[in-house]
Amino acid sequence: ETVEMCHGVILLVINPYRESKTLEVIGGRTTTVQGGAAVLHCKLIGTTETLTQISWQRLTRGKPRTDNFYTISSHYGPCSVNGRDDRFRFIGSFTDKNGTLQLSNVTLMDEGNYTCVFTLFPSGIHETAIPLIVPGMIHSKCCSCCVCMCES
Ligand SMILES: *[C@@H]1O[C@H](CO)[C@@H](O)[C@H](O)[C@H]1NC(C)=O
Ligand SMILES: *[C@@H]1O[C@H](CO)[C@@H](O)[C@H](O)[C@H]1NC(C)=O
Ligand SMILES: *[C@@H]1O[C@H](CO)[C@@H](O)[C@H](O)[C@H]1NC(C)=O
Repeated sequence: ETVEMCHGVILLVINPYRESKTLEVIGGRTTTVQGGAAVLHCKLIGTTETLTQISWQRLTRGKPRTDNFYTISSHYGPCSVNGRDDRFRFIGSFTDKNGTLQLSNVTLMDEGNYTCVFTLFPSGIHETAIPLIVPGMIHSKCCSCCVCMCES
């Protein structure tokens, strides 16, 4: 911890506005079934700059306009915004610059793109998109039940 802070201070003094070349937000795609849980992985690597906030946006079947729905800040901690949704839980670590969220009780309406946004001082915003895929009705219990009924 102390070592990281020292590096940060040294970098700022020598070269205040240049970000590291290896700075990168890593994510990944996630697939889950309806009613299941999904982990939306997101981590910022390659920087010793100060993280001020992690925020999440989504563009999904259920939210067809960009929706800021979750923020994690050093001051307020994890927080649902624009309407509470207890299905989202922050399971990452602010000090590790890990913004990972867990979503439980997934529905078809949750399918779409999630963007994880890191706000750093002084270089600003760094983000990546994480697609969440929820396979359709064909895999659900209800549908296989209907198929049985039709066939019998
Ligand atoms: C998820 O679904 C279960 C079973 O229906 C329910 O008990 C639980 O409260 C739900 N959790 C959330 C966070 O909505
Ligand atoms: C980020 O946090 C999640 C949840 O705790 C963990 O599974 C994952 O391995 C972490 N990612 C990295 C790259 O450390
Ligand atoms: C998610 O992003 C992909 C690639 O940009 C796009 O093809 C897809 O339509 C998006 N999905 C939603 C629900 O916006």
